[in-house]
Amino acid sequence: MFDILFVMIFGLSGRVLTKDTDTKGRFSSPVLDVTEKQLIIERNQTLQLNCRGRWELQWVLPSGVPKVYHGTQIEETRCGRKTNQYCSRLALSPALAQHTGSYRCRYLQKQRKQASVYVYITDSQRPFVKIQSEIPDVVYMKEGEPLVFPCRVTHPNTNVSLVKFPLRVLAPDNRNIIWSSRQGFTIRSPTFFYIGLFSCETLINGVKYSNKFLTHRPVNKILDVYLNSTSLLHTLQGEILALNCTVTAEWNSRVSITWTYPQKANGSATISRRISRSRTNMLFYSVLTIPSLSKADRGLYKCHVTSGPSKRDTNTTVIVYDQPFIRLKHRNSPVVQAFAGQKSFRLTPKLRAFPAPEVIWLKDGMVAAERCSRYHVDGFSLIIRDVAEEDAGIYTILTGIQQYGLFQNLTLTLVVNVKPQIGEKTVSSHQPGTVQRGSRQALHCTSHGVPPPQIQWLWHPCPPKGLS
Ligand SMILES: *[C@@H]1O[C@H](CO)[C@@H](O)[C@H](O)[C@H]1NC(C)=O
Ligand SMILES: *[C@@H]1O[C@H](CO)[C@@H](O)[C@H](O)[C@H]1NC(C)=O
Ligand SMILES: *[C@@H]1O[C@H](CO)[C@@H](O)[C@H](O)[C@H]1NC(C)=O
Ligand SMILES: *[C@@H]1O[C@H](CO)[C@@H](O)[C@H](O)[C@H]1NC(C)=O
Ligand SMILES: *[C@@H]1O[C@H](CO)[C@@H](O)[C@H](O)[C@H]1NC(C)=O
Ligand SMILES: *[C@@H]1O[C@H](CO)[C@@H](O)[C@H](O)[C@H]1NC(C)=O
Ligand SMILES: *[C@@H]1O[C@H](CO)[C@@H](O)[C@H](O)[C@H]1NC(C)=O
Repeated sequence: MFDILFVMIFGLSGRVLTKDTDTKGRFSSPVLDVTEKQLIIERNQTLQLNCRGRWELQWVLPSGVPKVYHGTQIEETRCGRKTNQYCSRLALSPALAQHTGSYRCRYLQKQRKQASVYVYITDSQRPFVKIQSEIPDVVYMKEGEPLVFPCRVTHPNTNVSLVKFPLRVLAPDNRNIIWSSRQGFTIRSPTFFYIGLFSCETLINGVKYSNKFLTHRPVNKILDVYLNSTSLLHTLQGEILALNCTVTAEWNSRVSITWTYPQKANGSATISRRISRSRTNMLFYSVLTIPSLSKADRGLYKCHVTSGPSKRDTNTTVIVYDQPFIRLKHRNSPVVQAFAGQKSFRLTPKLRAFPAPEVIWLKDGMVAAERCSRYHVDGFSLIIRDVAEEDAGIYTILTGIQQYGLFQNLTLTLVVNVKPQIGEKTVSSHQPGTVQRGSRQALHCTSHGVPPPQIQWLWHPCPPKGLS
């Protein structure tokens, strides 16, 4: 019976081909012997397709047809009136449900020139092209892209519904949920609703068949990268170094944290990782530890974070001193100048030290901060508010790192300049007096200032009488 069928197809195709040759004259693309866009055959039948063209031909079969399949036969011949054409016959026997798909014939050299037909191979016991394994297939959701549940079917009229686990049937609406027997279900704009377990279901002769899918949305959003030191980190040789790189990322993210550091080739560091979840985010920790620092460990430490295509990094520079030290010097000279009435004045010598020393300021041998409420220590500077003449004196800064028995002192002299003032001006403003001609008069002028003011007397003759 099949033989008869083939003869019929052949007769038909022969005509089609001739017609095509006649009208087009030449085969710019190969031509198949079927004019329909789709064929429906039953399981166990033989699928036979003929293709004709001007150049050498090649078949492209659906992924469900194994590359090496004993049932596939391809027969190539030269054909046409002057045998200047190429013919290829594909036979697939027995055709099985999983062979459903698009069959293409193309030129070997010009692969874009092709002819295709979609073939459904029906099987009442196998409505879906793919057989469901125990484990649902994972489908990946990408932002801004449609989501496809690839439950292709072996018959174009199969009624399939999409079910969200546990029991929510989603009907195709031709707007967002599109059904295609050749593709399965396509969700044009998937929302969070489409994260979960789904199945394509169909009922055939009272038997339910299904294809299950688990949707997964890979997330690659790094929200924050934090290194617990981002400025210079001063350390001592032999000390432990620990750097904590904390990454905050969106739920479900996968993040990879790597480090680059000066002694990476030696593998001098150990790196430990931890993941935790908060209500809204994921936290990834990577702690780099060098148990005993050496000079060679100084340099740039960089924490690199990647999540899919997203990348971030953060860094810190580590300085390793071979021993603790204090370097204390005068900024310019041992004598500093301020002005009485100045809002504030800062006594600040040059100090470099590691680790941070303790600092005490003395004024004239007594702890400065206890001497006057206008004095206070800020960092290692002494700040004097509302500078007054009495602030002048000898100041000493005592620095020390008790732990290492390191101490250094430095003494500076503060000079407070005071604007000259004339005492009499404020005390007496007496009227010009009359004195006897020829008598001896003493005029007094008392002035004060720092440095001591110079006094200069000026004499103005009185204006002639009657003019005032
Ligand atoms: C196809 O062939 C197999 C084995 O050859 C047989 O078990 C099955 O019933 C056949 N199916 C159909 C639809 O003829
Ligand atoms: C699919 O469903 C429609 C309407 O519910 C029905 O008319 C049709 O026969 C069904 N097709 C198959 C193949 O079961
Ligand atoms: C790293 O830093 C984070 C945030 O400061 C902290 O919660 C976490 O416990 C630290 N990790 C380790 C191993 O100390
Ligand atoms: C950074 O975090 C690690 C681990 O929590 C800690 O041991 C280290 O002291 C921290 N370093 C700084 C500079 O805060
Ligand atoms: C690390 O490697 C460098 C070069 O290979 C070597 O000179 C150095 O001594 C090594 N340092 C340690 C601590 O092993
Ligand atoms: C280190 O990080 C800072 C910002 O925190 C950045 O400006 C700088 O370029 C980084 N340095 C390197 C070498 O990556
Ligand atoms: C610093 O001054 C303190 C108090 O005046 C004194 O005891 C100490 O010996 C001095 N240290 C040095 C290194 O000059």
